[in-house]
Amino acid sequence: MPFYYMDFFKEGKVKFFAEDKQLKKAEVFFNPKRKFDRDLNVLLVSSLMHKNSSGLELFSGSGVRGLRLCIETGKFSVFAFNDIKSKEIVEKNLQANRGKLLKIDKKVTGFDSASFETSKKYDYIDIDPFGSPVFYLNSALKLLKKEGILAVSATDTAALMGSAQKACMRKYGSVSLKTAYSNELSIRILIKKVIEEAAVHSIKLLPLLFNFEGNFLRIYLKSIASNVKERIGYAYQCSKCPSRQIKEEAKCSYCGSKTHRMGKLWLGPLYSKKHVIKMLSALNRGTLDFPEDSILKLSDYLTRLSKELDVFSYYTTSQLSSFLKQPEFSISRFKDKTVLSPKGFRIASSFSDFLNNGLE
Ligand SMILES: C[S@@+](CC[C@H](N)C(=O)[O-])C[C@H]1O[C@@H](n2cnc3c(N)ncnc32)[C@H](O)[C@@H]1O
Ligand SMILES: [Zn+2]
Repeated sequence: MPFYYMDFFKEGKVKFFAEDKQLKKAEVFFNPKRKFDRDLNVLLVSSLMHKNSSGLELFSGSGVRGLRLCIETGKFSVFAFNDIKSKEIVEKNLQANRGKLLKIDKKVTGFDSASFETSKKYDYIDIDPFGSPVFYLNSALKLLKKEGILAVSATDTAALMGSAQKACMRKYGSVSLKTAYSNELSIRILIKKVIEEAAVHSIKLLPLLFNFEGNFLRIYLKSIASNVKERIGYAYQCSKCPSRQIKEEAKCSYCGSKTHRMGKLWLGPLYSKKHVIKMLSALNRGTLDFPEDSILKLSDYLTRLSKELDVFSYYTTSQLSSFLKQPEFSISRFKDKTVLSPKGFRIASSFSDFLNNGLE
């Protein structure tokens, strides 16, 4: 595609050619709405990775994400960009930023990521495809170094959030369900899938961070040497009331109705508090030269996240009020909120105890 059809953009410290079309058919994909996600990505790499790391981006699109990681974090001495469709434009965009990339050994390829192979292993691997990432986990995990970080995006939220059940079973081997907290289920199913796939490669992964934005989901996991407690299993949602539990029981502990079994799911923490706090302190130290509005958004997100209760799933004010047939409760009434929904809150007790204790 001739370059004069392209627009010229700037994001972070990178300038690049792309098309402002968030469609599959765009020749060079670029979605400006994912800026926050890329800011978060830059902060994560910059605060959690070592200098002289090697990185591999399997789905570069315009290359904006990989370029931002290279230029803004200063953590990479080797970086490989790959995209089946946009090799030429990535090369062009590397040229456009060449002054800032002098110290990095760069490579651009145009392979199908499902069968991507190199003799090198990488400290950071990024999977950011259209739809489901499951077809690419094998090639990425084969190339992930010990202590390396794997970033995985998914946009097949219909499957992950319970609208396309068969697709979820086929791709993730799990049952999802349409619930008030299905975005959390989508994160738990994706983490489970990546952890299971990693186990095939004898890799243990620790979930570091997630970001859910509408139909887009991204998780980060770190390969670790120590044993992570394998917390994979099922959860049970009551068919009649909001109550749910992770303990296997055929009947709802609140109303005694039949339950729906969901899973298998990751039942452990959705993120690593230690790593999120590290990211927050790097942000507060001003290690990144981000504009004020980006800093505020990142700080707000990570602060709220760091305070979340580590329990399975959240309730929403609308679900609770409609169940109790009362006017909608204000979210300010609840102490343990979640970043996953403006109306969402978590409770430490069972649903029955929560109601019996007067909605505390
Ligand atoms: C969602 S975009 C990547 C966006 C980019 N990472 C960013 O942050 O702007 C997905 C990209 O994957 C590429 N792609 C699709 N199927 C592929 C495959 N099998 N192997 C490699 N690249 C592929 C597309 O050409 C497209 O550029
Ligand atoms: Zn019930």
